[in-house]
Amino acid sequence: MAGAPSSGAKARPEGRAPFDALWRHLLPQGEKAGPFTPMSPLLSLQNLSLTFPGRTAPALDGVDLTVRRGETLCLLGPSGCGKSTLLRLVAGLETPSGGVIDWSDKRPEIGFVFQEPNLMPWADVAANVALPLRLAGVSRCEAASRVEAALERVGLKGLAKVLPRELSGGMKMRVSLARALVDGPDLLLLDEPFAALDEITRWELNDALQNLRAGVTILFVTHSVYEAAYLADRVCILRANPGRVHALVALEEARAKGAALRASPAYAQTCVRLSEGLRQAMEAA
Ligand SMILES: Nc1ncnc2c1ncn2[C@@H]1O[C@H](COP(=O)(O)OP(=O)(O)O)[C@@H](O)[C@H]1O
Ligand SMILES: [Mg+2]
Repeated sequence: MAGAPSSGAKARPEGRAPFDALWRHLLPQGEKAGPFTPMSPLLSLQNLSLTFPGRTAPALDGVDLTVRRGETLCLLGPSGCGKSTLLRLVAGLETPSGGVIDWSDKRPEIGFVFQEPNLMPWADVAANVALPLRLAGVSRCEAASRVEAALERVGLKGLAKVLPRELSGGMKMRVSLARALVDGPDLLLLDEPFAALDEITRWELNDALQNLRAGVTILFVTHSVYEAAYLADRVCILRANPGRVHALVALEEARAKGAALRASPAYAQTCVRLSEGLRQAMEAA
């Protein structure tokens, strides 16, 4: 596997407290203003644009964005602003019309999670999770141990032999997550994976994602300010017509987790800040 990510250590430099206001600030496009940049870039999108065939207006235009190793970066924006398109470009599922995607190292191993779990209904959980390994020619024996580890990572230990129809929506999404993790990706791309789930299940899946983020860089698309505020190290707010970066919001590093984070004033303030950023992005479009 290429380009193994760093441990994702996020040490905050000493003596930078006066910059805290800046750190939390809504940054303009381009993140050089961020005072703390402890993580090296994994990839950088430079002046990226895409006009779909048969369309005159670009879906994305002039997108500049750096994704840092080990971070969780949420893409937040209104429907149609190009979030999925951006993710598909990073995954290599679309070709840009202009600009470049610059991988700092070799293009890393990528896992993709879609809004629908897209499981094979006739195959049990283990076979569904093993699919990428089987397609890559990994032996049955090695695949079995990796599947077991992936299922444990997403909280589905012991459910290998269960069929998808026996699972709840949240559990199906956990299977989809395990399938994306099973071949050890450095970069996990998630396109509104929990949007169709009820609120409580969504929180549980957000917690599951929080717990598996060590050693993996996450690019997470959502239109929920609450989800972005909960999961992200940084939030990239996009605006539409054409899709481009409106603002980057860096969240505090040392935050509580789980229920303590959701109940904290800092979380509430972040939600307000992101809502305001989103409102501005929609007015500017
Ligand atoms: N395959 C495609 N062909 C033509 N237009 C597309 C295609 N995919 C997306 N678009 C258009 O590109 C824009 C961005 O779409 P999308 O990335 O799906 O937005 P989002 O995920 O933010 O809702 C929309 O106007 C959409 O209609
Ligand atoms: Mg989308």
